[in-house]
Amino acid sequence: MDSHKHLIDNFKKVCICRSITGGTIMKAIRGGNLSFEALRRNIGVGTGNCGAKRCRHKIEEKVRDYKAGLKAEAVLSENSQDPANV
Ligand code: FES
Repeated sequence: MDSHKHLIDNFKKVCICRSITGGTIMKAIRGGNLSFEALRRNIGVGTGNCGAKRCRHKIEEKVRDYKAGLKAEAVLSENSQDPANV
């Protein structure tokens, strides 16, 4: 079920004005665009007629979730390297 949601999210348009999908946005985020402004500059999200009113919060949420995932991975990695946990 989770993979279905992931697949749908990839193809679903997040920035409707510019027809930019969640997959395109996630690829750009993973490529180092870790803010709405960076994504706007590099892939054009939020540059449509609505002025990002419809998409900005969804995109910022994706960036926030991705950063939270990175932090969680870093903590897990630190803990696994800690000799106290071996
Ligand atoms: S939906 Fe993204 S600019 Fe309008």
